[in-house]
Amino acid sequence: MKSLLKKTSLNPIKNFYPAFSVQAKTEFSIRTLQLLEFEKVIKVFAKNEEWNPGIYDYLPFYSAYQDGHKGLFSNNNQLIASLSAARYSRDFAFLGIYIVDPSYREKGVGERLAKTVLSELESCSLLGLNGVKQQVGNYQRKYGFRPDYNNLRFSGTLKPPLRKSLEPEEKIKIIGQENLNINQLIDFDASVFSFPRESFLWKWLEMPESFLLAAIKDVASIDKKKICGYGVVSKCVSGYKIAPFFAKNEKIAKALYDGFSSRFKGKLMQVDIPEPNQSAIKLATQFGLYKTLETKRMYKGTNKLVDELNSKIDQVYSLTSLEMG
Ligand SMILES: CC(C)(COP(=O)(O)OP(=O)(O)OC[C@H]1O[C@@H](n2cnc3c(N)ncnc32)[C@H](O)[C@@H]1OP(=O)(O)O)[C@@H](O)C(=O)NCCC(=O)NCCS
Repeated sequence: MKSLLKKTSLNPIKNFYPAFSVQAKTEFSIRTLQLLEFEKVIKVFAKNEEWNPGIYDYLPFYSAYQDGHKGLFSNNNQLIASLSAARYSRDFAFLGIYIVDPSYREKGVGERLAKTVLSELESCSLLGLNGVKQQVGNYQRKYGFRPDYNNLRFSGTLKPPLRKSLEPEEKIKIIGQENLNINQLIDFDASVFSFPRESFLWKWLEMPESFLLAAIKDVASIDKKKICGYGVVSKCVSGYKIAPFFAKNEKIAKALYDGFSSRFKGKLMQVDIPEPNQSAIKLATQFGLYKTLETKRMYKGTNKLVDELNSKIDQVYSLTSLEMG
């Protein structure tokens, strides 16, 4: 019914809203969001969609990718729609936080903003996003994104450390932020994420109420301590999330989970797992989390870069963000 209505010139939905007649198009403007506006997008728009965002996520995402957060405004400067693009390199950007105010949906607002943002990213050889199920066909058909794999949200009450411990093969030690060399962390993060994100990580680690644990290979010389995994817990609208959570293998991830579950046992926790990483799913399940949401990672552009990104997927135990990559 909906598609039939859209294809006819007597579409009562579109005709009912004169704001979208040709003359009225100029009533809307698109511009870069200011910090307070982006905060509203996260704290109001994303919260209302029940995406359960981190309550301080807006600070690092805004300061690291300031020009990337766009909004569509009415003529009285009311924010109606948002779409962000984090430009991780000259070649790669990740799109997310695509939300239209519910009272303006299905009238072409989202498409108008998306086309503007996409036109500004034409020089990128690869674009990525996580699409909700209802939008996957749309992104494919309209914008040429192709589905890759599922990213699954697992949520639940975190169980205490598992009694039967998987002993790490290599001697590793779990340490907190105070004992960490942040430059080494930035290098380890880039080895998994595929792009360096130094300014973002500094801000991410400064977030109030966040808690970091890292796994290091405890080699003889203190200077040669090598990071082989880390995770950051931060406060969400409801409960907490571990994001990002990267580890070289399952045993290291298990040791980090033990550390997090000692501190946060009984708390509501969420992780966003790329489905191809089955050991991440296994561990999340063992620690009491279960699947609550499914999204589709989609890409548009060069396969070569996709292969590079996917080559590290088995080290991703939780994404940094479904919205921003
Ligand atoms: C997704 C969203 C941003 C699209 O914005 P919008 O202004 O409603 O979309 P538009 O009116 O520009 O429509 C674009 C297309 O999406 C389609 N569409 C919109 N909502 C849809 C829905 N719920 N299911 C399927 N298709 C939908 C429209 O039919 C249109 O396709 P068509 O022109 O081929 O008929 C908006 O619906 C929204 O905020 N949804 C909730 C948040 C969300 O899910 N964001 C996407 C996360 S990946």
